[in-house]
Amino acid sequence: MRCIMRSGSSNGSYSSTVRLRVKAQSHEDRETVAEMIKNDNNDELDAVRTYNEAIKLARSLDDQGTVDLLSKILKMEEGHVDWAESQRAQIDQMGMENYLADQTGNKTA
Ligand SMILES: [Fe+2]
Repeated sequence: MRCIMRSGSSNGSYSSTVRLRVKAQSHEDRETVAEMIKNDNNDELDAVRTYNEAIKLARSLDDQGTVDLLSKILKMEEGHVDWAESQRAQIDQMGMENYLADQTGNKTA
């Protein structure tokens, strides 16, 4: 779990805590590469939703510093979603065997 806290404002009128939940899964839950990528994609989509909600909250509190910070993190998370979707597309197009061979640098005949 990641937690970003901001206590008090310049006039000390409020205190807020934003908690961002990052799911952890054991490797037993990820039996195949396809499942790993699917689970990663779902986790990244959850992160994007959570960061968007946190940004909305920070905006409502006029906390521009947190908005800026979370916006940068959100862009990274969106990049992770793109990566996972790209991996899934590659698996669909080339098949798992060729995908894995490509990932390890080995070429199939
Ligand atoms: Fe991510």
